[in-house]
Amino acid sequence: MNVKELLKKCQRDRTAVLATNFYNFETLTAVMQAAQRMQAPVLLQLTRSSINYMGLEQAVGMGRRAIADYGVEGWIHLDHGGSVELVERCLDAGFDSVMIDASERPFDENVSTTRRVVELARPYGVNVEAELGYVAKLGQAQGGGFTTPEEAARFVEATGVDALAVAIGSAHGFYKQAPRLDIERLAQIHAATDAALVLHGSSGIPHDMVREAIANGIVKVNLATEIKDNFMRALKGVLLESEEIDLRKVFPKAVAPVVELLCEKYRMVGSSKVK
Ligand code: 13P
Ligand code: ZN
Ligand code: NA
Repeated sequence: MNVKELLKKCQRDRTAVLATNFYNFETLTAVMQAAQRMQAPVLLQLTRSSINYMGLEQAVGMGRRAIADYGVEGWIHLDHGGSVELVERCLDAGFDSVMIDASERPFDENVSTTRRVVELARPYGVNVEAELGYVAKLGQAQGGGFTTPEEAARFVEATGVDALAVAIGSAHGFYKQAPRLDIERLAQIHAATDAALVLHGSSGIPHDMVREAIANGIVKVNLATEIKDNFMRALKGVLLESEEIDLRKVFPKAVAPVVELLCEKYRMVGSSKVK
């Protein structure tokens, strides 16, 4: 199954796939251990900064190797691709799915950039995701910019994009106030387009609320901040507790709680074969 087919299947089954960012060997290990235990499919996401940190070939190689070794259904996805040039590099490196994020540009420019990526990606047969409306980036205010059903329909029609990240009240990072998702708006967007709808910013959203979003059309749930936060907190705890310098004994202790967190997240999206 490729990612387009996976997302279509999620639409039919009214479930979602978890799309988790990874940053290094340890966070990748946590994601894969949990996916294996829960028998859940996973999209391994890389952002530009993670690609710069690990190196493109190394990051893809690690992801691919892990998918094979853990025997889980997994794919590699470019998260928030900020330029056509980065998307091209990722297509050549064998990504299964790419996101072009021109959501901060005017509508027409978002359309033309996304359309260019859809055309570039076609020979590769990979899934293309774009963002319409604006999901606040880490540390930024939302300030309006919610996706409208009319624009969503026009955007998908004009670009031929497979998946669409929608702005319905979520934001990247943790929330100062409890988030509220505009489920009504989501249901209208879902009715207006066949595109696979994506929820960004799931860290900090109560699981029931994410499930409600899935019941109303979300098929891909992006998770990043909680993974970093959980891992780093656990690591700090481990380091304060002992003088151990064998990092091969230290890191697994910080990975273990992240595995537990992720098992709950796979359960939340409903793609786990383990109840
Ligand atoms: P969070 O960091 O809020 O989990 O958002 C993740 C995300 O949307 C990655 O694209
Ligand atoms: Zn995002
Ligand atoms: Na969030």
